[in-house]
Amino acid sequence: MKKYAVIGDPVAHSLSPKMYNAAFEFLGFDGLYLAEQVQSDDLSCFMKKLRTSEYAGISVTVPHKEAVMTFCDHLSDKATKIGAVNCVYNKDGVVFGENTDWFGFVEALKEVESNLRGKKVLVLGAGGAARAVVFALNQVGAKVFIWNRTLSKAQELAQEFELQIVDSVYDCDPEILVNTTSVGLNIEHEMLVDLEQFQNLEIVFDLIYKETKLSLQAKSLNLKVVDAKRMLLLQAVQQFAIFTGLESPIEVMWNSINN
Ligand code: ATR
Repeated sequence: MKKYAVIGDPVAHSLSPKMYNAAFEFLGFDGLYLAEQVQSDDLSCFMKKLRTSEYAGISVTVPHKEAVMTFCDHLSDKATKIGAVNCVYNKDGVVFGENTDWFGFVEALKEVESNLRGKKVLVLGAGGAARAVVFALNQVGAKVFIWNRTLSKAQELAQEFELQIVDSVYDCDPEILVNTTSVGLNIEHEMLVDLEQFQNLEIVFDLIYKETKLSLQAKSLNLKVVDAKRMLLLQAVQQFAIFTGLESPIEVMWNSINN
């Protein structure tokens, strides 16, 4: 049997085991996918389990996506540019680090808007999640504006990815709004933007995969709303193929988390 795990802290809430185990069962693949709570101090020790082949592949979530890079022998170009790894696997004794978050993000967005070239996109936030998002948006030729509470972090990202900074969220006229901040995780949080203030907004993508004030307002204004669970699914679909060499049963994986 091949063993896989998602590692993070916290990790108990992760939907990944459901998706992968449903796919294994459907395909008759002899695999098991676990959720392993790993604290930062234990990361080095845990990663040895990949070297010894106790695990064939590991999905990585908060807060280890950057730290895990040091345990890889080879990083993909995309993972290097994004500066984060969410997928680690052992191939013939070599530990590879890959990033599939950017792919999950852009594929989920394409499900509601297939032509992203030249689209004006306002990205809220400049943390780890924002890096995969702006990388993906650059890949498809969107015009990206970035806003962050701490201006210096927005400046760093803007320089690295050639983005335009806005001081106020209303300084640009976006067609697509993406929230990468943690604001909205708690339903008590005040919203960072009032969507009614935008003239030409069409699509809202909140990376938080539960209902938020932002997504509720977007729905009430009849804007298109991307379901962040599609991003979760689509990044996993790519990882599943990397881990197993098999085509991912997308519908099976989707049904396992969409209830
Ligand atoms: P992640 O890896 O999920 O992106 P992160 O790297 O800690 O997490 O980034 C969190 C993002 O949410 C940052 O852009 C942060 O803004 P700062 O750079 O100013 O800290 C943003 N954020 C968190 N709480 C916020 C708040 N109350 N208001 C505005 N932005 C907030």
